[in-house]
Amino acid sequence: MVSPAVSHRLSDCFHFPNRYDPDGFTPERAEDRKSPYTLIGFGGGRHRCIGQAFAYQQVKVIWTVLLRQFELELVHQNYEPDYTTNDWL
Ligand code: HEM
Repeated sequence: MVSPAVSHRLSDCFHFPNRYDPDGFTPERAEDRKSPYTLIGFGGGRHRCIGQAFAYQQVKVIWTVLLRQFELELVHQNYEPDYTTNDWL
């Protein structure tokens, strides 16, 4: 098993591993292209996602509709993710 949540935060691969940093994917920095396994949201190796190009196309269409029709704002400032699953504790 591999965990994208962990591997996408490796400081060996990403300059600001714990920050939302879309500039890391620009042609100048291209941190996602350091190796075939740096960015694994679509898997990797023999069974890598064959729908990646279609998925990106769909995501662009979805965001185009959302951004045209809605004004988005943050509901929570300084949101901290909660990775626990022990809701009953
Ligand atoms: C954001 C959207 C998507 C994400 C995040 C995603 C992610 C992934 C990942 C991580 C794998 C590898 C699974 C593994 O290693 O066992 C995979 C495999 C696969 N994906 Fe996607 N996928 C997406 C969209 C799509 C779409 C739109 C299609 C088809 C239209 C598709 C078709 C497939 C197929 C057929 C495989 C299996 C490839 C193989 O086993 O050789 N995916 N996907």
